[in-house]
Amino acid sequence: MKKILFASSEVVPFIKTGGLADVAGSLPKCFDKNEYDVRVILPKYECMAQKWKDMMQYKTHFYMDFAGQSRYVGVLETVYDGITFYFIDNEGYFSGPKPYTDWHWDVQKFMFFDRAVLSALPVIDFRPDLIHCHDWQTGLIPVYLNDSFQGGEFFRGIKTVMTIHNLKFQGNDNAEQFMRLSGLSSYYMTIDKLRTGVDGNMLKGGLVYADAITTVSDSYAEEIKTPFYGEGLDGLMRARSNDLRGIVNGIDYVDFNPATDKFITAQYDASNVLEKKLQNKRALQKELGIGAGDNRFMIGIVSRLTDQKGFDLIAYVMENLCQRDVQLVVLGTGDQRYEEMFRWFAGKYPSKVSANIYYSEEMSHKIYASCDAFLMPSLFEPCGLSQLMSLRYGTLPIVRETGGLKDTVHPYNQFDGTGTGFSFTNYNAHDMYNTVMFAHSVYVDRRDEWNKLIARAMAEDFSWQASAKKYQEMYDWLIG
Ligand code: ADP
Ligand code: GLC
Repeated sequence: MKKILFASSEVVPFIKTGGLADVAGSLPKCFDKNEYDVRVILPKYECMAQKWKDMMQYKTHFYMDFAGQSRYVGVLETVYDGITFYFIDNEGYFSGPKPYTDWHWDVQKFMFFDRAVLSALPVIDFRPDLIHCHDWQTGLIPVYLNDSFQGGEFFRGIKTVMTIHNLKFQGNDNAEQFMRLSGLSSYYMTIDKLRTGVDGNMLKGGLVYADAITTVSDSYAEEIKTPFYGEGLDGLMRARSNDLRGIVNGIDYVDFNPATDKFITAQYDASNVLEKKLQNKRALQKELGIGAGDNRFMIGIVSRLTDQKGFDLIAYVMENLCQRDVQLVVLGTGDQRYEEMFRWFAGKYPSKVSANIYYSEEMSHKIYASCDAFLMPSLFEPCGLSQLMSLRYGTLPIVRETGGLKDTVHPYNQFDGTGTGFSFTNYNAHDMYNTVMFAHSVYVDRRDEWNKLIARAMAEDFSWQASAKKYQEMYDWLIG
């Protein structure tokens, strides 16, 4: 049995701010259980829902020297959906209303987490053959493993994989401060190791010291070797290109299944999608108090409202969009200017724009099921899960051709009748607008073509099956 430990700062169903949580929670379930014992470790946040906290069982605790003090590390455990989850407990670090807070504090918090993860393993008597680290929050695990944990027999030979879900966030802090908190010596603060500029950089540490690197789509794996997408680490990505590969994300086909989805008004599959989707659309129009109308082109957005997701393009043509017979249903939180922008348009065009500035699993499912199209014009997108959820629900994605969006959405070709959505290349508001209007025209004037697009979208397979196999192959190769 090969033992794998996933380390992640967020994991569904316990805590989620974005797609990282979906991946860390759903992928572990998809490995061959006869060959792989995959467990997951994450922080125990105060802000987790009480029902999850109630499920956790105290396993052990110990004290660990960290940042000049002896600190409490509790370990809790739960088995959920056949997977063992460990939670690192420290009320000082993991309190507050959200998993992430102030930048400096987050760096310290996850340095603590990374050290606590390794320190906990002998205590809970789980020696993984490989630790699979996700994003900057776990970047110091491969570094610590190389450094202070190398002495004993227990840690010798443990392999590491670093998966990049988003290269933009790296977890850096002034090198002096970084050394003081992490306990790493100045040996590590050079440009070929953890240093970027005047900072120490957690993600860079993971990328330098991990045995292999993956990211969440083939296109993003290529893009991050270029300065535009490389976030200052493109040189390192090129240098390690032999150890870097893209493995596209899947989604949980049980949680996201229109045939069994408890959140939506009318369940459906490919055989009755047209009729049932309409029922969902009517129900959502009613619930949100936007204008009724079966043939109004309803576009959904479920997203963090940040620059990454292309909201400046949407803001630029929002007024024009509202002049057309479209409805825009938005669910998201994030930058204040985008929250306010959608609220403002919802006030001005109440029958066309619905601004839902909050987080809701239930509402997200309703939007995936009810809308005709889903808009995701990202500036960059390592993979993107929302477009996969849309495809699964027969809601046609309109995306910019970048990263995982490019790899998972095939643009409609009216000449040979192929495609599962619509896309544009340049990061340009008018190109996006024209693409939305093209989709609108297919919806209005060539409904039979539109319906065939829905059928093709729903026939795609973005379950974890194929990608989990690729991870297994990589683990086998590394563990030997
Ligand atoms: P990212 O991880 O960059 O935010 P992804 O497309 O990979 O983007 O994943 C986003 C995930 O978060 C999806 O599961 C999406 O449905 C969910 N999501 C984003 N915003 C909200 C929200 N306000 N309410 C519910 N779910 C949301
Ligand atoms: C990140 C990326 C997103 C990706 C997700 C899960 O949040 O922004 O594109 O789908 O991680 O890998």
